[in-house]
Amino acid sequence: MVKICGIGAGYVGGPTMAVIALKCPSIEVAVVDISHSRISAWNSEKLPIYEPGLEEVVKQCRGKNLLFSTDVEKHIFEADIIFVSVNTPTKSSGLGAGKAADLTYWESAARMVADMSKSDKIIVEKSTVPVRTAEAIEKILTHNSSKGVKFQILSNPEFLSEGTAIQDLINPDRVLIGGREGPEGHEAVLKLKGIYDHWVPEDKIITTNLWSAELSKLADNAFLAQRISSINAMSALCEVTGAEISQLSDALSKNTKIGPKFLNASVGFGGSCFQKDILNLVYICESNGLIEVANYWKQVIKVNDYQKSRFVNRVVSSMFNTVSGKKIAVLGFAFKKDTSDTRKTPAIDVCKGLLGDNACLSIYDPRVSKDQIHKDLSMDSEVKHVSIVSDAYEATKDAHGICILTEWDEFKTLDYQRVFENMQKPAFVFDGRNILNVDKLTKIGFIVYSIGRPL
Ligand code: NAD
Ligand code: UGA
Repeated sequence: MVKICGIGAGYVGGPTMAVIALKCPSIEVAVVDISHSRISAWNSEKLPIYEPGLEEVVKQCRGKNLLFSTDVEKHIFEADIIFVSVNTPTKSSGLGAGKAADLTYWESAARMVADMSKSDKIIVEKSTVPVRTAEAIEKILTHNSSKGVKFQILSNPEFLSEGTAIQDLINPDRVLIGGREGPEGHEAVLKLKGIYDHWVPEDKIITTNLWSAELSKLADNAFLAQRISSINAMSALCEVTGAEISQLSDALSKNTKIGPKFLNASVGFGGSCFQKDILNLVYICESNGLIEVANYWKQVIKVNDYQKSRFVNRVVSSMFNTVSGKKIAVLGFAFKKDTSDTRKTPAIDVCKGLLGDNACLSIYDPRVSKDQIHKDLSMDSEVKHVSIVSDAYEATKDAHGICILTEWDEFKTLDYQRVFENMQKPAFVFDGRNILNVDKLTKIGFIVYSIGRPL
C-alpha cells in the first residue's frame, strides 16, 4: 500500500489530502500538523474549517484510509510521498520584509523530512512558493539526510478556491506537475501522476519543468487578481460617466477572448493569497532587476487598496460627511461567501476605516465567529463601538446605513421592507458586492449605492 503523508492540515492540506483519500482507497493518507488544536478539530465533529462538502468527504474516509495526527515524525518516516502544504506568509521582518515569502515553515518541514527519512521519498510542493524554491529544498534535504537516501522534489501547486474547494479538487481545470529533467525526475512525475489518474482525466494533467510549475502558480494568482483590479478600476470610471459596471462586465464576458469569470466588481479582493503572492512576485522581479515588471504588478494591489478606501469614503461622504455616532450594519465579514476565512478580508479595512470616523458598527456574518472578528479588528480600545450579532435583522435595527461586504446568499433574500421599517431615515445601503436589486430597494425607500453604478 502506498503511503502518503500530508504536512500541514490547513485550508489546502486538509481538503486536498481528504480528496486523495476519497479517490484512492488503496492509498493510506496521514495528515500531520504541529498545531494540536487543529488536529484535534480534524478528529472531532466540528472541523477546523468550513467548506461545503468537506465534512461528508472526511467522514467517509476518516478512520479508514485517512488519519489526522500530530506525530509528524512517525508519518514522515513511513511515507513514500510527502505533500507539503504549510503556510508561506509574507515576511514581516528582515530582508524582503513586507514582500518576500517567509519560508520558515517550509524549511523546518524540510529539515524534519531530512531527519526522519530512512528510505527514498518524493517531496511534493503544494504550498505556493517563490520560483526556484525546490532548489533550496533540495539543498536542505541532500545536506541533512541519512546516507544513501534520495529525494525527488516535485512542484504540484494547488489551484482550489475556498468555498468551492471540494468541487475544485474533485473536478479540477487542470493538475500541474513540475519535476526535474532526467529519468529519476520523470519517474517521480509519473508516480504522482499515477495518484491523480485515479480521478483526473489524462488531458487535464500537465507536466512541466520545476520552475515553470512554481512560477505558473504565482502567475495564475497574479492574473486573477489583476482581472479584479481591472474591473474595479472600471467601476470607478462607471460611477462618474453614467456607464454601469454590470452592463460592462456582461459585454466583456461575451468576448470569447476575455471570458465570463472574475468580472464581478467588488469592494476589493481579499483572502490569504492574492496579495501575498503578488508581493512575492514583485520581490522576485525586483531581486532580478526587473523594476518595470515589479511596478506593473504592484499596481494591482494599489488599485485594490484604492477600491477599499473609495468604498469607505463613499459611505462617509454620502451620509452627510460623517458617520460619527451613527450605527452602521456590516453584513458579511468573510473574504467571500461559503467560507469562515477572514484572512485579508476587505471587511477589516472597511470596518477600520469606518471606526476611524467614529461609526458604531453592528457586524453579522453567518460563519465567522465573534472571537475571530475581535481578533481581526484588534478591538481592545474600540470595543464599545462594535457589536457582533447573530442575525441580519438585529444588525440593521435602528441602523443609519448598511454595508454589504460579503456576498452571502442570505443577504439577497432578506425582507428588506422589514429592514427598512426598523432603520433610521434616510436609510442607506452600500452594496459592496453588487448582489441587491437596486430598483426594488429604491422603491422601498432606501438610498442605494452600489459599486460601479452611476451616482
Ligand atoms: P494554513 O495556515 O491554513 O495551513 C498551514 C498549516 O501548516 C497550519 O495548520 C500550520 O500549523 C501547519 N504547519 C506549519 N509548519 C508546519 C510544520 N513544520 N510541520 C507541520 N505542520 C506545519 O495555510 P493554507 O491556507 O492551507 O495555505 C497553505 C499553502 O497553500 C500556502 O502556501 C498558500 O499560499 C497555498 N494555497 C492556499 C490556498 C487557499 O485557498 N488557502 C489555495 C492554494 C494554495
Ligand atoms: C484564489 C484563486 O481563485 C485560486 O485559484 C487559488 O488557488 C487561491 O486563490 C490561492 O492560491 O489561495 P480564493 O482566494 O480562495 O482563490 O477565492 P477567489 O474566488 O479567487 O476570490 C478571491 C477574492 O476575490 C475574494 O475576496 C472575492 O470576493 C474576490 N473576487 C473574486 C472579486 O472581487 N470579484 C471576482 O470577480 C472574483
